[in-house]
Amino acid sequence: MKGIILAGGAGSRLYPLTSVVTKQLQPIYDKPMIYYPLSLLMMCGVREVLIITTEFDRPFFENLLGSGARFGVDIQFKTQAEPKGIAEAYLIGEDFLQGQDSLMVLGDNLFHGDFKPFRAAVDQQRAKKGGLKAQVFAYPVNDPERYGVVEFDKKTKEVKSIVEKPKSPQSNYAIPGLYLMDGSAASRVKAQKPSRRGELEITDLIQSYLDEGSLRVEVISRGMAWLDTGTPQSLLEASSYIAALEQRQGFKVACLEEIALRMNFINTQQLSAVIEETPNSPYKDYLKVILKEYEEE
Ligand code: G1P
Repeated sequence: MKGIILAGGAGSRLYPLTSVVTKQLQPIYDKPMIYYPLSLLMMCGVREVLIITTEFDRPFFENLLGSGARFGVDIQFKTQAEPKGIAEAYLIGEDFLQGQDSLMVLGDNLFHGDFKPFRAAVDQQRAKKGGLKAQVFAYPVNDPERYGVVEFDKKTKEVKSIVEKPKSPQSNYAIPGLYLMDGSAASRVKAQKPSRRGELEITDLIQSYLDEGSLRVEVISRGMAWLDTGTPQSLLEASSYIAALEQRQGFKVACLEEIALRMNFINTQQLSAVIEETPNSPYKDYLKVILKEYEEE
């Protein structure tokens, strides 16, 4: 299973913040935004990750994450020349994917909660029982018109279609930016035509699996947080959410070094070496505590 993080785009709703730093590197409380989607991939056991950015922003991501060795992950980078749609990620990533299954997460999507349903979906994708080729999730929101939306058949209640930003949504179930696809994704996107807004739509790719009966749509339980980060207000709310959790529990959300240790991507000696290189900071102090506790467990 390979991982993709799509971190391109202009982030115009966050201007002027995004004229200095791209959206996916904006702070969510105490970490850059991209830590959160990367932590999700890691917690699903994904260790080979392609990060797609703009040419301009690529060095900033490279400086932050390097080769991924610090987290026991192999990170590669590619650039998207201009935003031509989310589905283009499968074309940009074609060489990286080498026809394998993938889990793609959008770089501005922040999930928090029990990731068991995601891990189970990854296992199911690996098993590919019953002709299953792709999986997406559905999450109830107040403003479905901003997202890809699931439309259900009124009689059978089965998923009928996936529509991108419908003016009058037929349901309030949005599709979060987390997509499990089989190795045929790239060739499907090649057969796709750009939409009216000129983009290769992720919803059209999902629909191609739905049309042939190989798509699974799983409704995410309300205990899971899927937060928006696209506006100054939602950025602030996401930061407050993470701050409240971290201060209450004393644990950090999306601490990549900690996840790497707990997932056995790195061992305690490797974490010690990482800590040595970490600038003196509360983050470093936290890593020291985690290491000590882990060694005592
Ligand atoms: C994109 C997708 C949409 C999806 C959303 C999730 O929209 O096109 O289908 O529901 O991400 O974050 P965007 O946020 O790029 O407008």
